[in-house]
Amino acid sequence: MLIAQGRLDMEGALTARDRVGIQDFVLLDETTEVAVISNLKKRFSKDLIYTYIGTLIVSVNPYKDLDIYSKKQMDVYMGVNFFELPPHIYALADNAYHTMLTEFNNHFILISGESGAGKTEASKKILQYYAVSCPSTTLMNTVRDKMLMSNPVLEAFGNAKTLKNDNSSRFGKYMDIQFDSQGDAVGGHILNYLLEKSRVVHQNHGERNFHVFYQLVEGGSDDLLTQLGLERDVQHYYYLTQGECAIVSSINDKNDWKSVKNALQVIEFDETNTSHLFRVVASVLHLGNVHFDPDSKGHALLKNNTELNWVSDLLGVDANSLKEGLTFRKIEAKTEQVLSPFTIDHAIYVRDALAKAIYGQTFTWLVNRINESMENKDSSRKTVIGLLDIYGFEVFYVNSFEQFCINYCNEKLQQLFIQLTLKAEQEEYEAEGIEWEPVQFFNNKIICDLVEEKHRGIISILDEECLRPGDATDLTFLERLEEKMGNHPHFVTHRLADKMTRKTLERGDFRLLHYAGEVTYCVVGFLDKNNDLLYRNIKNLVCQSKNTIVRECFSAVDTTNKRRPETVVTQFKNSLQKLTEMLMAKEAWYIRCLKSNESKQPGMSAQKRSMQSTRSFYDRCHPITGQFDEALIRHQVKYLGLMEHLRVRRAGFAYRRKYEDFLKRYKPLCPATWPHWRGMPADGVEVLVQHLGYLPDEYKMGRTKIFIRHPRTLYATEDAYEKCKHDLASKLQAKYKGYKVKGEFKKQKEAATKIETCWRGAQARKEREKRAWAVKVIKKFIKAYINRGEAKSTDNSEYLVFVRQSYLNRLKNNLPKTVLDKTTWLTPPAVLTEASEILRKLHYRLMVRKYVRGIPPQKKAQLQMKVVTSAIFKGKKESYPPSIPQPFLDTRISEQEINIRVLSMIRNEQIKYSVPVIKYDRNGFKPRPRQLILTKTAAHLVEEAKIKQRVSYNSLKGISVSNLSDGIIVIHITCENPKQKGDLIIQCDHLYEFLTKLSIIANKQDAINVVQGSIKIEIQSGKESAVDFTAGQEAMVYKAKNGHLMVVATRTRTR
Ligand SMILES: Nc1ncnc2c1ncn2[C@@H]1O[C@H](COP(=O)(O)OP(=O)(O)OP(=O)(O)O)[C@@H](O)[C@H]1O
Ligand SMILES: [Mg+2]
Repeated sequence: MLIAQGRLDMEGALTARDRVGIQDFVLLDETTEVAVISNLKKRFSKDLIYTYIGTLIVSVNPYKDLDIYSKKQMDVYMGVNFFELPPHIYALADNAYHTMLTEFNNHFILISGESGAGKTEASKKILQYYAVSCPSTTLMNTVRDKMLMSNPVLEAFGNAKTLKNDNSSRFGKYMDIQFDSQGDAVGGHILNYLLEKSRVVHQNHGERNFHVFYQLVEGGSDDLLTQLGLERDVQHYYYLTQGECAIVSSINDKNDWKSVKNALQVIEFDETNTSHLFRVVASVLHLGNVHFDPDSKGHALLKNNTELNWVSDLLGVDANSLKEGLTFRKIEAKTEQVLSPFTIDHAIYVRDALAKAIYGQTFTWLVNRINESMENKDSSRKTVIGLLDIYGFEVFYVNSFEQFCINYCNEKLQQLFIQLTLKAEQEEYEAEGIEWEPVQFFNNKIICDLVEEKHRGIISILDEECLRPGDATDLTFLERLEEKMGNHPHFVTHRLADKMTRKTLERGDFRLLHYAGEVTYCVVGFLDKNNDLLYRNIKNLVCQSKNTIVRECFSAVDTTNKRRPETVVTQFKNSLQKLTEMLMAKEAWYIRCLKSNESKQPGMSAQKRSMQSTRSFYDRCHPITGQFDEALIRHQVKYLGLMEHLRVRRAGFAYRRKYEDFLKRYKPLCPATWPHWRGMPADGVEVLVQHLGYLPDEYKMGRTKIFIRHPRTLYATEDAYEKCKHDLASKLQAKYKGYKVKGEFKKQKEAATKIETCWRGAQARKEREKRAWAVKVIKKFIKAYINRGEAKSTDNSEYLVFVRQSYLNRLKNNLPKTVLDKTTWLTPPAVLTEASEILRKLHYRLMVRKYVRGIPPQKKAQLQMKVVTSAIFKGKKESYPPSIPQPFLDTRISEQEINIRVLSMIRNEQIKYSVPVIKYDRNGFKPRPRQLILTKTAAHLVEEAKIKQRVSYNSLKGISVSNLSDGIIVIHITCENPKQKGDLIIQCDHLYEFLTKLSIIANKQDAINVVQGSIKIEIQSGKESAVDFTAGQEAMVYKAKNGHLMVVATRTRTR
C-alpha cells in the first residue's frame, strides 16, 4: 500500500495521480461513468480500496483482510490534514473528530451501500479508530468497551446470513458517539430502524434466521438448553430450517455464542435479564414448532401441547389463554365476547405474528438496554459523531414492502445529501464571498414527495387502505395508487404503462423511477406487513407475561386504546423524518460502500492475474467470478448516486484550498513568492496565479480560499510544480552534496587525527617498551661488566660475547698496517689475551707473507745478502745496526773507473765487485788508497794499472774485524813461503757490503770473525804483529809504540 511509503507531502492526491489512478474523483479530467469506474478498477487492482470524492469516501469491498487497519496505520492518520495522505477511512474519521473538537459541533458519518458492501465493517473500523486513538481514562474505557461490545450483541440479534452477505444487518442502525470537550468518548446512543422481522418466521432458500437462534442451540450449555426445553439440533426447529443452510462454513456459532455472552457481561446485563432474554429466544423456537391440525370444519386444532407449554412456561403466560389466542379470535360485541375459530392458515399467521412481535419488541428492548448501559448521565454539553449504518438501495427480482421502505429511506438520505451538500456548497460560497452558480443535477425531491406527501403520497394511500373498513386488499391499494398517481412521471403500473413498458410489468406491480434507477414492487403483502397486526387477546396475554422483558415491551403499547396503532410504514416515515431532522443539524461525512463482486471473492493481485493466464483452457472458459465485477460496480455507482454526488461537488469549482496551503505548495513557481512571501497569503496567491497566467474565468478569489474551476488548470500548475521541484531538488542536492562532502571531509580529518593520535600512542608505547628493554639490557650489561672478571656465568656470558665481538670488530679496523709497526695493537680484554696474541702473530705472519711475496727479485737478492750480513755481524759489531738500512750496491767502482790494464789482466775472471779501500802497509802501517776488485776466484788489490796483490780465495784463511765501529778488516792469508805477503790490513767504508759480498763470492761466511780488543796479524810467514782496537773520542789509526796498529773507534750511539 501507498500508506506504507509513509507520509506523503501535502496534496498526496495530486502527487500520486498517475501512479495508482486518481485519489480524488473531483480531480478526474472527465466526469463520465466510464472514467469513474476505470479509476476505481485501477486502484482496486492495487488493493487501494478507498477513493475520495472531495471529502466523501468510496470504498470497494476487498473481501480479504488488508494490512491497513493496524494501530500503526491509525497513528499515521492521527491529526493529519485530509489531503496529505492517501484516502483512508481513518482520514475521514480523524477529520470528523478534529473538526468536531475545534468547531465544537456535531457530525455524522453516513455509511451506505448495498447488502454486503461493507457498511457494518466500515462502521466498526471507525468505532475502533475512536476507541484506540481518542484520549482515555479508566472510566471512559468501560464506556468504550460497552460501545464496542454492543456490536456482537446487536449483530447476534439483528444480523443473519443472506444470499448476499453471511453477516447481513437486518436493521438500520444509527449510533451516536458522545465526546466531552477534551475529546474523550464518554457515551453512546443507538437508534434502530425497521428490523426485518419477517425473517423470524420465514427465510428464503440459502438464507438463515437471525444468528442468535443458531448460537443458542449450538453454543448454549446443556443445562441452559434443558432449562429452555431445547434440543441441540438446529434441524429440529421449523424456524431455523426453511433456508436449508443452518450450518455455514464462514460462521462459527459456538464461538460467537461465547462472544455474545461475554459482551452481555460487559454491557452489564444482570442474570435475570440475560435469562429472560434467552427465554424469549427459546420461546420463539418453540412457537415455530407449534403445529396445528384441522378439525372437521377445517378449523385449527392444537393437539400436541408440549411446545405450547414450553412457550407458556418461557414467556410466563397462561397456557390455555395462549392456546385460545392462537386458535380463536375474540370478537367483542356490545355486551359479550364471541370467539371465532381460526382456519389453519389463520392460526399460523397469528402464531407467526406473535413470534415476530415478541422478537421485534425484544430487539428494541435490547437496544434500549444497551443505550442505558452506554448512557452518559453527566449533564455537561457534549458533541457527537453519529454513525449511520443503513441499508442501501435494494433491487431484487421480486421487491416487496421491505424494499419499498428501504428504497424510500435511500431517497430520503439522497435528499438529505443534496440539501446538505448544496447547503454546504452554498454556505461556503457565501462565506467566501463568491457568487453562487446554480448546479445542474437531478433533485429527487419529486420522488420523496411521491412517496411521503400527506394525503397524496403512496404511504398515505397505503395507510388509508389499511385503515379502510371493508374489503381492502393489496390490489385495491394498487388501484388507488393508479387513480391518484396516474400521470406522475416517476410512477408506472401495468395499466398505466405504454405498450413497451407494460411487457416488463405484472398486473400486481407498480414501478417507481427512483433517483438511482427503476424498481418494480409487487403489491402482494403490502397491507398485511404494513398493519403488522397482533390480535388484542394475544396482546393482552403477553402484557401479563411473567417474563419481564416481554411484559416491558408490550405494556408500553396501550392495549386499552381502541385507536389503531400507527402502521409500520408511518412509523418508519416518522422515524426517518426524525432522523433527517437530526442529521440536518449536523455536519455530514459520507462513506459509500461498493461490492466488488457477488461471489464474495477477494480481488486478485496483478501477479495472480498473470498466473491466471497460464490456467487451462477449461479454466479460462470458466473464469473465477469475483474480483472487480464492472457491471455490478456500474450498477452500484448508479444506485449510490455517486455520479450525482460528483457532479454536485464539481459543479462550480472543482478545487479549493486555503490561501496559506495553496501558497505553501506552489510558491516556488513564482520568483515573487519564493522562497518567502512576506505579505498577506491572499495577495501572494494573486501574484502567483497572475504569474502562472490563470485566466479570470478559471479561478475565483474567496475570503480565505482560492477556487479553481477545472482540474486541468490545477494539473498544469501541479505539473509545473513537479518540474520546478526537480530543479529545486537538484539545487538542494548540490547544496546537500557539498554539505555532505564537507561533513565527510571533517569526518576524515577527525579520523586522521584519531589515527595519528593512535599511531603516536602506539609509537610512544613502542618507544617505552624499547626503553624498558634498553634499561634491562643496560642493567644486565652493567651487571655483566661488574662480573666480567668472573668465570663465565649466566650473568656475564652475554657480556663476554659482546666484549669479544666488539673487541674483534674494533681490532678489525685498527690493525697495524706494516710489519714494522710493532706498536699498534689494541689491548685485549682479559678474556681475549691469549686469542689476541695468537691473532697478533697470525696477523704479522700474514703481513710478512704479503710483504715477502711483494718483494722484487733484486731486493730479494739484496735482502738475502743482508741476511748473510746479519748472520755474521748481528750483535757482534758495534757499527752493524746503523748499517742495516744502507742498501748494498752492485759495485762501488764502475768498470770505467778501473784501469784498462788491470781489466785486461783479469780479463779471464769475471769482476763481481769493486770497492775503494785504504790499505795499511804491513811495515809501518802507512795507509795507501787502493781499489779492491773481487772476481770469481780471487780478490785483487789494485793501484792504478798495477795489481799489487792477488788473494786467491783458496788462500784466504780468515777475515777478522773488531767489534767496534771502525772499518778495519784484516784478511788472513795462508803464507806458505816467506816471500809471500802476509795478512792484508784494509780499511773500507762499506765494510759490511764488502765482507758480505766477499763471503758469498768466496763462500767464506764462516771465515769472518768479530774480535774484541786485538787481532793478530801475520806480516810475513812467521812474523806477527797485531791491530789493537779501542774506543775513543776521535777515530784514529796509527802505529802504536808497541808496533801494533792502533785503531781508535768512535762509539756508535745505540738507541
Ligand atoms: N474493509 C474490508 N476489508 C475486508 N473485508 C471486508 C471489508 N468490508 C467488508 N468486508 C467483507 O464483506 C463482508 C460484508 O460486509 P458488511 O457486513 O460490512 O456488509 P454490509 O454492507 O454491512 O451488508 P449488509 O447491508 O448486508 O449489512 C464482511 O463480512 C467482510 O467479510
Ligand atoms: Mg451490515
